[in-house]
Amino acid sequence: MTATSDGRYRIRSAEILPIYDSRARQTLQVTVCTVDASAAGVAPAGASRGHHEARELRDPDGGLMSACARFRQEIAPSLIGMDCRNQAGIDAALISLDGTDDRSHLGGNTLIATSMATTALAAASNRMPLWQYLAENQGATEMRMPLPQIQILGGGAHAGGRLPLQDFMVVPLGAEDWPTALRWVAEIYHAAGSLMSERGMLQGVADEGGWWPNLQSCEAALDLLVLAIEATGRKLQDEVTISLDIAANQFYRKGCYHVDGEALAPHAWVEKLLQWTRRYPIRMVEDPCAEDDPENYAAFYEGFHQQGLIVGDDLVVSNGARIRRAVKDRQINAALIKPNQVGTVTEAHEALLSCPVPIVSARSGETEDTAIVDLAVGWQAPLIKVGSIARGERTAKWNRGLRVHQAHPMPLMRFPHPGSLSQH
Ligand code: PGA
Ligand code: ZN
Repeated sequence: MTATSDGRYRIRSAEILPIYDSRARQTLQVTVCTVDASAAGVAPAGASRGHHEARELRDPDGGLMSACARFRQEIAPSLIGMDCRNQAGIDAALISLDGTDDRSHLGGNTLIATSMATTALAAASNRMPLWQYLAENQGATEMRMPLPQIQILGGGAHAGGRLPLQDFMVVPLGAEDWPTALRWVAEIYHAAGSLMSERGMLQGVADEGGWWPNLQSCEAALDLLVLAIEATGRKLQDEVTISLDIAANQFYRKGCYHVDGEALAPHAWVEKLLQWTRRYPIRMVEDPCAEDDPENYAAFYEGFHQQGLIVGDDLVVSNGARIRRAVKDRQINAALIKPNQVGTVTEAHEALLSCPVPIVSARSGETEDTAIVDLAVGWQAPLIKVGSIARGERTAKWNRGLRVHQAHPMPLMRFPHPGSLSQH
């Protein structure tokens, strides 16, 4: 790697520290410094992962000794002297140092913590908040805040599989700004909690802070969500809509979808899901089918794309080429952008640019780090997903948005009109 003549932006030190995430597992924090600025990047961790995600580097006992050793031996010496503003160059160097297709030598966790740290350092050395630095870099004008989609009930891999679906979320698409959006969702969250506790259905909170329900079926969960929205006086669809992360990889076994005690053939599952989208005010459905069942993914798209967003997560793993292919094959018209799925900030940004409706997203294993909000605002993503509105690692992010909004009031993004996204 080559140094530049502009010493103020030159990276002088790079350190790594294992810290803890919201599931009491170790994760990585990388700190980088110039002569007069410093910044950190932290790796999040998923629990329901796509097969093609960048691999985490973890010791057999769950520790991060090998990741730290490789960072110190291979990454840190290469970073020293580089210009922290040269994100593309830094990320290209990280990718080549790793040298594998699945990022398994240095680990997607080590790479994303490093890449996020240098991005944050570039902003810090320019004396700017990260979101503003990113926005200026891409020439954004007339900025808006991303529309939040917020989990109310958790299920799937985040709640012991009690409900097969992973996220029952709401999108406050009628709110004019971020503070109003959060207020509406907090009211719905409380209403759902009260309804469940009155009925003896409440079992605490799931991994992303949503209520962990003791409910017998997905339909019971959807009924409860509708009741909770109505209890707050908000208008279904015009003000608040429902978004589901099906995370169907988790309950697809031997060619069948295992839902609410039934083993459904794929066409029967797609039909059931389409019926729910007609019966309930649902405008977003993520990973409706398993990643190795693309035909039925496409069958769901055909039935739903005029009504809402079909969001690829495990199917496309924040990979630009996979997103473009899935859009062309009429499987998705939106995708999550999770920087650690792909490994570097540059690749995550490329993936975002290749997507009709990108949704910048955190993971289920998180820390108090809030950089994901700055990415979403700075990149002007239409939507953001960071879990529920309870638990500190989640509220850190929503509160970051409140502080950004206080300093620079911006209206909220408008919900994209699905019909206009269809491929012809
Ligand atoms: P994960 O899931 O972070 O546990 O992988 C989140 C999601 O599927 O959106
Ligand atoms: Zn998902």
